[in-house]
Amino acid sequence: MEAFLDFLGDIPWWAWVLIFLLLVAIRDIFFQKAHTISHNYPVVGHLRYWLESIGPEMRQYFVANNREELPFNRIERSWIYASAKKENNYEGFGTDRDIYKHQHIFIKNAMIGFQVPENHPNKEHPYFMPCAKVMGAYNKRKKPYRPGSIINVSAMSFGSLSAAAIESLNRGVEKCGAYHNTGEGGLSPYHKQGGDVIFHFGTGYFGVRSRDGGFSMDKLKVLVDENPCIKAIEIKLSQGAKPGKGGVLPGSKITPELAEIRGVEVGKDVISPPTHKAFSTIPELLDFIESIADKTGLPVGIKGAIGKVDQWIELADLMKKTGKGPDFITIDGGEGGTGAAPPSFADHVSLPWTYGFSKVYSLFMERGLTERIVFIGSGKLGFPGKAAMAFAMGADCINVAREAMMSIGCIQAQVCHTNRCPSGVATQKKWLQNGINVPLKSDRLAQYFKTFRKEFLEITHAAGYEHPCQFKMDDVQVNVDDDYLSSDLKSVYGYQKEQVAFKSMQHLFDCEHLGGKPALEKTL
Ligand SMILES: Cc1cc2nc3c(=O)[nH]c(=O)nc-3n(C[C@H](O)[C@H](O)[C@H](O)COP(=O)(O)O)c2cc1C
Repeated sequence: MEAFLDFLGDIPWWAWVLIFLLLVAIRDIFFQKAHTISHNYPVVGHLRYWLESIGPEMRQYFVANNREELPFNRIERSWIYASAKKENNYEGFGTDRDIYKHQHIFIKNAMIGFQVPENHPNKEHPYFMPCAKVMGAYNKRKKPYRPGSIINVSAMSFGSLSAAAIESLNRGVEKCGAYHNTGEGGLSPYHKQGGDVIFHFGTGYFGVRSRDGGFSMDKLKVLVDENPCIKAIEIKLSQGAKPGKGGVLPGSKITPELAEIRGVEVGKDVISPPTHKAFSTIPELLDFIESIADKTGLPVGIKGAIGKVDQWIELADLMKKTGKGPDFITIDGGEGGTGAAPPSFADHVSLPWTYGFSKVYSLFMERGLTERIVFIGSGKLGFPGKAAMAFAMGADCINVAREAMMSIGCIQAQVCHTNRCPSGVATQKKWLQNGINVPLKSDRLAQYFKTFRKEFLEITHAAGYEHPCQFKMDDVQVNVDDDYLSSDLKSVYGYQKEQVAFKSMQHLFDCEHLGGKPALEKTL
């Protein structure tokens, strides 16, 4: 035995390396059957797989230029990170964008901008920017709600996001007077940290699910009664990244806690059906909305991505005829994010936000219905310039998902569907989540929203307005093509937005239905 160990000890290190490579080569050629490249090019073939796996990081850090990456380029990400940390988010020397490029937008500034008078709410509270409309006011719901912030956290469930991320977002919205949309996974304890909540459910009815997987009104009623943080309810019809496809939560993300909250099995993929059981026609949808509003007293809205508009027309016609309808409509763009979706859906199904929103808004406007509805936009709108465009087109609020994730540390690794999110934001692995410092990250979300509102307000003032609801279609211009060069949104999309009834910021500040008011008074 000793002689054998001496023999092994005499083998030089480079011979060990050769032996190891020889064993790998034997395995590659004779034993593994899955990879042709490894078989045909033993040992070196592995390099190809390794380089491919680190390719995204290499391109992100070293190769891609500042404006090149999608969904969010480096300049956009850096702006969110710097804003969230209250660092210098300016750029020096001038824009690095090609401002003559197709689809580039310009906001028209006034010759002399809006001058904020003394004793105006924005003198004391430079981040104060609530929604100009009240959800549920027209339909006389028992508990109408005016969002305290025009930027809010979009639907992302506990499940697709980690507990630490959800808690950071909820505490963050509490600090800046915004709301937090639960996403499809039900109301978790992490959503109940003080922020206003919009309870959202889709075809899986998680959190309000009956035994047979249908919708339970009784459960919804109990949930709303027990949780006064719920200010409104959103029924998800579809989302931009995967319309017509139910949610997919990979089994690897289903922990016992999550299974308990959702009422599903541990470790098994959860696939929500593509359509609702509670309704299948537009009149049934309208009845469903009304019955939820009656039972809960809360404003009720719908969320959808836009493709064909015939059913939207049917809804608008029915709303006109009956005087009933949703209190808010969230329009998601095809560029929207997701925890997990097939690329064919994410890339090709549903229209981008500007195309979809303009179609739906204008058809409600033609029927004189826009004042009844709070229009919410989502789809990469978490930047003040793009928000100005959205408001000019008729949006009353912005929901942000991935931008909010980035403000709490997401690095756009694009692995939300794998449970391996390196920043701990979109994973259920405890070790990865432990890196999230909840108090710090909640400050970051709050600061991102405050910085966003401050810059958006400055743009609004530069355009001569007091509140962004006053933006009109001809206040924003977009580069179209070589023949017409650049045109205002009114000519491009063929409608003029209906002016929102706006009195003053003071009027909004004094509103009894204003959400997040304690936070607004305390922290702004
Ligand atoms: C991780 C993740 C989870 C999401 N979960 C939901 C969901 O449960 N329900 C839903 O309607 N939309 C969901 N979305 C879509 C977002 O709410 C939002 O509509 C979309 O990402 C566009 O906003 P953004 O461009 O600011 O990310 C999710 C998005 C992400 C990134």
